[in-house]
Amino acid sequence: MYRRKILVTGGAGFIGSHLCERLLAEGADVLCVDNFFTGQKANVAHLLSNPNFEIQRHDVTFPLYVEVDEIYNLACPASPVHYQHDPVQTTKTSVHGAINMLGLAKRVGARIFQASTSEVYGDPSVHPQPEEYWGNVNPIGFRSCYDEGKRCAETLFFDYHRQHGTKIKVARIFNTYGPNMHPNDGRVVSNFIVQALKGDNITIYGDGLQTRSFCYVDDLIDGMVRMMDSADNVTGPINIGNPGEFTMIQLAETVLKLTGSKSKLVRMPLPEDDPRQRQPDITRARNILKWEPKVQLEDGLKETIAYFRTIVG
Ligand SMILES: NC(=O)c1ccc[n+]([C@@H]2O[C@H](COP(=O)([O-])OP(=O)(O)OC[C@H]3O[C@@H](n4cnc5c(N)ncnc54)[C@H](O)[C@@H]3O)[C@@H](O)[C@H]2O)c1
Repeated sequence: MYRRKILVTGGAGFIGSHLCERLLAEGADVLCVDNFFTGQKANVAHLLSNPNFEIQRHDVTFPLYVEVDEIYNLACPASPVHYQHDPVQTTKTSVHGAINMLGLAKRVGARIFQASTSEVYGDPSVHPQPEEYWGNVNPIGFRSCYDEGKRCAETLFFDYHRQHGTKIKVARIFNTYGPNMHPNDGRVVSNFIVQALKGDNITIYGDGLQTRSFCYVDDLIDGMVRMMDSADNVTGPINIGNPGEFTMIQLAETVLKLTGSKSKLVRMPLPEDDPRQRQPDITRARNILKWEPKVQLEDGLKETIAYFRTIVG
């Protein structure tokens, strides 16, 4: 039996580690490439005994020469604390990383999936956001290295497709949570859970009435794999996320209930460019990929809390 050879860049990160696990379970031969900036070896340590799994330390801003059938390009720090740490490197990772991985896909004829983001919509004036919406992005703010880097990566994907016939799959991923999230990434789900488990105050930015939608990682991985396996004319962009909307206060209260924590909610000033509302329109994913999220927030949070209990002392 032929085993598909699949490259996952950023494979030791939160989403990448779940993807590697899923692809191995499907019988693929998986090469995980990561520079370990935010990824952790512990996320993939349990896969190392699998003879079909291989890991390579590599920075995607440099070219990579391997023979593969499919590429999932996930390498990029995803949370503001991490992507703002070295903003120039963040843009390089998105842009040079895209050029290098697209060059590889072109050379070996591989299909290539891009982990784009809802951040391409910026602070949206359309709600919920369909893929046709071009976004409202500040090009010179603190978030721009990530937002504009990802937008430029999308441009490169579509130009490689039009100019070279590269088989592309661009997914715009909305807020995702689950086990293997970085405990210090400053993202709202991990923040609230870690604060609740430690009995620290739960920090609510602004009035806490801004909403987010949260997709459990298993649902996301299912959407990503469906997209990679879709017909060649399915290029995207396709939104993948959970349209269920929750305010920050609702999320904090659910975390308190599920952890049994006595932490207090405290207010902090809203960071610059923080979007007020973000919710995916997943009509395309439903129609084209026959995909929609299945995991309820409380169920996903229980799994995530169980994971954080193992790492928060
Ligand atoms: N988690 C979300 O809610 C979310 C939402 C939208 C988009 N995404 C995208 O999905 C992808 C994965 O996100 P995540 O949440 O797993 O983040 P993560 O930080 O856990 O994973 C990113 C991985 O990429 C690696 N990496 C960073 N720069 C690299 C480089 N130059 N070369 C090689 N590896 C590098 C990191 O070490 C890490 O393992 C990212 O591209 C992110 O932009 C995530």
